[in-house]
Amino acid sequence: MNLLFLGDVMGRAGRQAITDHLPRLRTDWNLDFVVVNGENATSGMGLSGAHAKLLLEAGADCVTLGDHAFDQKDMLRFIEEESRIIRPLNFSKAAPGKGARLFTARNGKKVLVAQALGQVFMKRPFDDPFSALETVFRTHPLGGQADAIIIDFHCEATSEKMAMGHWCDGRASLMVGTHTHVPTADAMILSKGCAYLTDAGMCGDYNSVIGMQRDEPLRRFITGMPKERFQPALGSATLSGVYVETGNDGRATRIEMVREGGLLQTSRP
Ligand SMILES: [Fe+2]
Ligand SMILES: [Fe+2]
Repeated sequence: MNLLFLGDVMGRAGRQAITDHLPRLRTDWNLDFVVVNGENATSGMGLSGAHAKLLLEAGADCVTLGDHAFDQKDMLRFIEEESRIIRPLNFSKAAPGKGARLFTARNGKKVLVAQALGQVFMKRPFDDPFSALETVFRTHPLGGQADAIIIDFHCEATSEKMAMGHWCDGRASLMVGTHTHVPTADAMILSKGCAYLTDAGMCGDYNSVIGMQRDEPLRRFITGMPKERFQPALGSATLSGVYVETGNDGRATRIEMVREGGLLQTSRP
């Protein structure tokens, strides 16, 4: 299968990049399944139902969330109606929606998508993501119930993400990190066939501080004093993520970093 994963869509610029590029990439790269992380698509904070629809209509088969999952309050209800949206498995015991789901790709194959939050340097404590994913792998073995398995691990620390990559190796097709909004250069296939990238980066304007207009973050770093709200940067966005090919056993056979449009150097399969 040909899989595409795109990192955190950041505000209007990120949404624009998705609608500008994704429909064409679906065809040009013959994509069987596309996952987009949408946790910052609405004003940089969360995802509204309307913007979730926009990402799905542009070509996402599944939209994942993150620590900002329910910043837009209508997502509390919308996620119950739209099963293509996945929130972190370990967000909260009271959270609506699901943290993992088996999808049917356009080619008829079964793709499992799951998301978990990390525990290191996050704003609040979340339950153990390793045991949460262990349960998912037990109930949905790769090559059994699932032809491909995509794990979105949403966390800050590169060490925690690399550890999770090895935890998923042999059991997932792709383990990709999200949340930092900066792509890492370590796309690789681990020893038991799991494609791995520490962070997918964001789909947003990189002339910014992780997607926000520069002035307010700079002020807070320099003076330690907040003055205004953070606002998403509105320049041309780079689509950022990873492309993976898998074989019949669900293991990855190829991984390529994806950067399309905007400021970052182009990279495509
Ligand atoms: Fe994010
Ligand atoms: Fe996040």
